[in-house]
Amino acid sequence: MTSAATASPDATSADGLRQRALHALSAARDRTGALTECVDEPDLTAQHSPLMSPLVWDLAHIGNQEELWLLRAVGGREPMHPEIDPLYDAFEHPRAERPALPLLAPAEARGYATEVRSRVLDLLERSALEGGPLLDGGFAFGMIAQHEQQHDETMLITHQLRRGEPVLSAPEPPVPQGAPVAAAEVLVDGGPFAMGTSTEPWALDNERPAHHRFVPSFFIDTLPVTNGAYQHFIADGGYQEPRWWAPEGWEQIRGHDLAAPLFWRREAGQWLRRRFGVVEPVPQDEPVLHVSWYEADAYARWAGRRLPTEAEWEKAARHDPATGRSMRYPWGDEDPTPERANLGQRHLRPARAGSYPAGESPLGVRQLIGDVWEWTSSDFLPYPGFAVFPYREYSEVFFGSAHKVLRGGSFAVDPVACRGTFRNWDLPVRRQIFAGFRTARDV
Ligand code: AVJ
Ligand code: FE
Repeated sequence: MTSAATASPDATSADGLRQRALHALSAARDRTGALTECVDEPDLTAQHSPLMSPLVWDLAHIGNQEELWLLRAVGGREPMHPEIDPLYDAFEHPRAERPALPLLAPAEARGYATEVRSRVLDLLERSALEGGPLLDGGFAFGMIAQHEQQHDETMLITHQLRRGEPVLSAPEPPVPQGAPVAAAEVLVDGGPFAMGTSTEPWALDNERPAHHRFVPSFFIDTLPVTNGAYQHFIADGGYQEPRWWAPEGWEQIRGHDLAAPLFWRREAGQWLRRRFGVVEPVPQDEPVLHVSWYEADAYARWAGRRLPTEAEWEKAARHDPATGRSMRYPWGDEDPTPERANLGQRHLRPARAGSYPAGESPLGVRQLIGDVWEWTSSDFLPYPGFAVFPYREYSEVFFGSAHKVLRGGSFAVDPVACRGTFRNWDLPVRRQIFAGFRTARDV
């Protein structure tokens, strides 16, 4: 395994780790603030979609998880308000029930999260960041920063579902620089590669351990599927043709009368979409967004192709044919930068297909990281040697055939929660998430 092991990031001294943790926690809190301060109280407590929690639930849940894992589990402190724990336990109350709960009001939720954070910063200051699996490498702090960023993405989805005047804005993604991709697809030669990680300090349990996978040769798209390409599928009657669809997918589109990605509508012969409160023409060369796994799967079949498996996706994103190693990212082991990937909600949309040549893989596959989450054909399953850490409800309870794996992160994912090994999952019917796809084929 050593020859294929991944490099680990440098900050290994206690001070370096402390800085890294502090930065990750602060960046997450800044984003949480921005997502919750731009709307008024009724907007924070309203449920904008039965699929989502009120924003004020996410806010207090962020504080509650931080209290649970950092103040109580790491710091050994007594619960601050034990009576609120069940309200913010995601497994006690499904999202649809949450608005009816006696939730903390916005000012209380903010006050609670702020108080937890100030105690956490004291704890971090005095922590040796070693002496057990939760502390080693600052894991628990990294896990909580990732948790908050994941809920920030969830809150951004709530913003996208919310009706009303726009409240968010961001600069446009950069115009693609440099040469276009050389070909529409590339061949990834068959052979073993090291999937997952045993060395990335803040990797979550489902990404572990690193293990060898033999992946037969396959072709994969160099770019995500675009809105323009997807419109050809629609125009060709794709939504009227059962042979392209998995049976459950066909049931979903017939039962709900779906004929285009979520947030699209047809007006005067043109496709429009609503994006964070703004209605605009659908841009042809942007990666398609807000499609279900069933829509991605049907498109791929119509195109004479298929979705990549999760192992194929990760091999395309991490395997360096020159050395045989698995890298942390398509471009190498260095952390993401704005030149390499569209991450961190710097923009409120994916960048055009063909952007970020500096982020391409050794074989020339672009935009694997950032822009849109990519559906894979695979069920969410544990890797051989998987061990729950630190709690069953993060990953283990979701393993099985109900959930499909998504890879690579979207424009709404912060770099702290994005790696070549990072695994996301959702139900195949879901369309509100920032998901698109690319296709593959056998050789
Ligand atoms: C990994 C994105 C599926 O949001 O349900 C947040 C992340 N887990 N709180 C989710 C998560 C616990 C999770 N996903
Ligand atoms: Fe959570």
